[in-house]
Amino acid sequence: MASVEGKRVLITGGSSGIGAAIARDLAQAGAVVGVCARRTGLLDDVLADCRATSPDSRAWTVDLADLDGIEAFAATVEADFGLPDVLVNNAGVVASVPLLKLRFDEVESLMRVNYLSPVRLSLAFIPKMVARGSGQILNVSSVSARVSPPTQGAYGATKAAMTNFFESAAADLHGTGVTIHNVYPGLITVNDIPPDNLHEGMTGLPASDVAVAVREQLEAGTFEIYVPDEFRAMYARRAKDVGAFVEYSGVYAVRQLGDELSP
Ligand SMILES: NC(=O)c1ccc[n+]([C@@H]2O[C@H](COP(=O)([O-])OP(=O)(O)OC[C@H]3O[C@@H](n4cnc5c(N)ncnc54)[C@H](OP(=O)(O)O)[C@@H]3O)[C@@H](O)[C@H]2O)c1
Repeated sequence: MASVEGKRVLITGGSSGIGAAIARDLAQAGAVVGVCARRTGLLDDVLADCRATSPDSRAWTVDLADLDGIEAFAATVEADFGLPDVLVNNAGVVASVPLLKLRFDEVESLMRVNYLSPVRLSLAFIPKMVARGSGQILNVSSVSARVSPPTQGAYGATKAAMTNFFESAAADLHGTGVTIHNVYPGLITVNDIPPDNLHEGMTGLPASDVAVAVREQLEAGTFEIYVPDEFRAMYARRAKDVGAFVEYSGVYAVRQLGDELSP
């Protein structure tokens, strides 16, 4: 077990939800936390909490959808904060849109924020981490990447792309001292908006559950975790007969969403 205490951890999307919970939890555990996102006011609140236990923590306002600005942002982080020991790729947008209502520009926008942006930021840091001989990249994926829920094709594909990219990256980085860690959260409650009809009757877990699991994952060096863990078994069951699983998903979608699936 390698404690996070004293480590410099950059968390993207630290202004709310899971990212804010990870920042607060890691700062409490003694990590020096850097948070970034677009909403400066919310970032300031998270930073104030982090500084109560970790005074050198920092925040930057940045739009990570501006892909051409990412190398400059990485350079700013390095100058202000140092090369991170840990990068948590968490910033992202969750989206459930029935296929017959989905526009291509939404697909493209999701891919930019959820996949291209974390890949580009990671590529800015990884070569320097390899030269140093240490570093951890932790990716907040989603069970959507593993079980392809109805209405989440565009969203889940961004997370599946993230998974494939970083699983291959982990192999490329073997023996360098730089390690990859993927986390697959299920339904997590991050705001007061009631769950959509697809998730009706399901209770989300608090973001703090993901934060604790992520800290333990970083400390243990575990490659992948599910929150809650029961999704690991669901993914294994699906792999035995993907066609049957997809068939069941379709029946479930019609039952839960009905006319919402129409154009
Ligand atoms: N909630 C769930 O059930 C669930 C389940 C599985 C996985 N996830 C994943 O968990 C991650 C965090 O989501 P969340 O549920 O905690 O939702 P959230 O509260 O909306 O958090 C999303 C974070 O990403 C940031 N972000 C979004 N677009 C950005 C951009 N263009 N530039 C910079 N930052 C940006 C947001 O900050 P600003 O708006 O201030 O920029 C915010 O801090 C996402 O990757 C999501 O896919 C969520």
